[in-house]
Amino acid sequence: MTSTQNPTAAGSGASATEAFRASRPQAGAAEVSAERVSSVVAAVLDGVRAAIREHNVTYPEYQAAKQWLIEIGEGGEWPLFLDVFIEHVVEQNAAATQEGTKGSILGPYYLPDQQRLPAVTTLPMRPDEPGVPLVFAGQVRDTAGRPLAGAEVDIWQNDAAGYYSGFAPDIPAGNLRGVVVTDDQGRFEITTIQPVPYQIPTDGPTGKLIEAAGWHPWRPAHLHLLVRAPGHRQITTQLYFAGGEWLDSDVATATKPELVLDPVERDGRLRVDYDFVLEPA
Ligand code: DHB
Ligand code: FE
Repeated sequence: MTSTQNPTAAGSGASATEAFRASRPQAGAAEVSAERVSSVVAAVLDGVRAAIREHNVTYPEYQAAKQWLIEIGEGGEWPLFLDVFIEHVVEQNAAATQEGTKGSILGPYYLPDQQRLPAVTTLPMRPDEPGVPLVFAGQVRDTAGRPLAGAEVDIWQNDAAGYYSGFAPDIPAGNLRGVVVTDDQGRFEITTIQPVPYQIPTDGPTGKLIEAAGWHPWRPAHLHLLVRAPGHRQITTQLYFAGGEWLDSDVATATKPELVLDPVERDGRLRVDYDFVLEPA
């Protein structure tokens, strides 16, 4: 495990904001009634006011908070901050009505429209890509147990240094990303490398807050996945690794016991099988 990397916010924060904007041309146009805006926003503000009263927050602390909020925006770190500290609760709400494979947070580093790959494939990677080889295989089925041929397993992950392509310099576009299409039995077999624990960038405002609070900035190693098939509800999830560092103290609170893989060594490589189950849309 690499615990010595030094990720920089300068690259990842701003690019995460750009990626979010690019993926949501309609952001801000959601149809929400005044009643709902009022009740949700009033509850958020009441929570903040209650914390200020309970902890007797002072003027210097209030002004420091204002400064920090400005820096989060200027550094483009709203996607990072929100996805680490807030998204898991929204995901829990979504999970309450979802059958099949458990979901997890999307996080800030998804990029759409990656290379489409056949069912048995190797993720795009550099010729000398460092890391422990991993074969990740399985089947996509519906909740009635029928295999879903032509389903899309949209996968992305970090490299052995902890970086995501598109969000750090010097990594080729599309590295360790791809949309794998299942065969006529709904199966896939993806050769990749083992992802490593992810550290929130330490040099930006989110990292500064974590340091100021004495928390740790780590997520356990994970694969990100969107799994979809026509007529079925898309699953957004992540898969983790048994025994991995930070599995029990994920800064993003996004692990679930059902989402932990336990690869075994076979022919000098790690291999693991995991099946996905999609519910009808
Ligand atoms: C963040 C990064 C991730 O890779 C992830 O899976 C979730 C959150 C973040 O920096 O906010
Ligand atoms: Fe991630």
